[in-house]
Amino acid sequence: MLRDPYAHYAHLRENHPVFWHDGMKSWVLTRYEDCRNVLRNHEVFARDRRRTGEEIPEFRQSLQTLDPPAQAPLRSLIMNAFHAQDLEQVGSRARHRVGEILRELAERDSFDWMREVAAPLALSITADLLGVPEPDPEDYVRISEAIAERMDAGLKPGNIARGDEARTRLNALAEEWFAAADDRPGVLRDIKQRAAKAEMPPHYVSNSTGMMFNASYGTVYATAGNVMLTLLQHPDALERLRDERLLTSGVNELIRYDGPAQGTSRVATRAVRIHDTTVEPGQIVLTLMAAANRDPREFPDPDRLVLDRTPNRHLGFGWGTHACVGALFGQVAIRELIVCLLTAPGRLRPAGTPTRRPTATVRSLDVLPVAFDR
Ligand code: HEM
Repeated sequence: MLRDPYAHYAHLRENHPVFWHDGMKSWVLTRYEDCRNVLRNHEVFARDRRRTGEEIPEFRQSLQTLDPPAQAPLRSLIMNAFHAQDLEQVGSRARHRVGEILRELAERDSFDWMREVAAPLALSITADLLGVPEPDPEDYVRISEAIAERMDAGLKPGNIARGDEARTRLNALAEEWFAAADDRPGVLRDIKQRAAKAEMPPHYVSNSTGMMFNASYGTVYATAGNVMLTLLQHPDALERLRDERLLTSGVNELIRYDGPAQGTSRVATRAVRIHDTTVEPGQIVLTLMAAANRDPREFPDPDRLVLDRTPNRHLGFGWGTHACVGALFGQVAIRELIVCLLTAPGRLRPAGTPTRRPTATVRSLDVLPVAFDR
């Protein structure tokens, strides 16, 4: 399942499009149209579980736990702060940094792409965009891993305590960053300047900052690994990406093909029919976006990497009112990585067996050994 979930997803999509998973006590959706309909229907399918009577402790309250209309002031505060950034500048600094890292790594016989490239890229580009100091990498990786594992709590309830502890540490870091935000340009300073007008309780703003840092770090890290592996498995694809006209569509296709965000969940606020199944109020619906992204009803020849695929309305960045606020930036980060690969001192080739992190919601490699061809 970890090595290749797509065959399992295809089986579910064709045979059990609304599948009850007993362990997770959730309805699992795998067809594109079904997943998209759930994600865009926030009136029936809530992200904010307080709408069905659950409690959400204060340390978990953030942009992610608010639905419209309460979500609107915080979401526009964050979106406006993003729009005020010069993404191209951040992208070009990341290109410089990764270019340097690759030149140094060219001296080595082989190296781990995840540790040496994906992690520093994700950490530096995220800190730069938000305008915060880079946290200690070893320390931050532990926080990020625990939060990613917490997302699998439906499968592994044992992950909850460590994940919540990590979230609390991240909130504390975010409060420190927030206090110092006036001194550095970036998303945080812009949020801080505009926050008073949004009239949100301060912990929402600060928790959302921490959540955003991790949403960026975790996905950019995992995408950088998935994309590198896909390019190693499709040696002609990188060469084709020299054609600048293919870069934007190519990055999107790489995210459709093997994105990091495999699924997300919503809770039904009232009884609703999906195909022949009645979902009862309070029941959880898990939308497997990664399965939807390989649905042949929406994507012709879905298991093939088609760098100029159009249209490509994939769900790799989610859909609807909780869709990714950093989608544009995530694309810039991956585009810069590809440009660095194209100008690197040589071609990379596999140098050992990759291993995966044992997480289902976030699809990520743990170790990806590579070497420069000499
Ligand atoms: C390639 C990189 C990325 C991918 C694949 C990705 C994917 C996603 C997905 C699938 C969602 C929706 C989750 C849901 O509906 O429950 C999401 C939400 C989110 N993403 Fe991203 N993301 C990426 C990069 C980023 C970056 C760079 C940032 C910030 C700098 C970011 C910040 C967020 C935030 C704050 C949310 C929550 C939005 C809300 O709940 O209203 N993401 N992302």
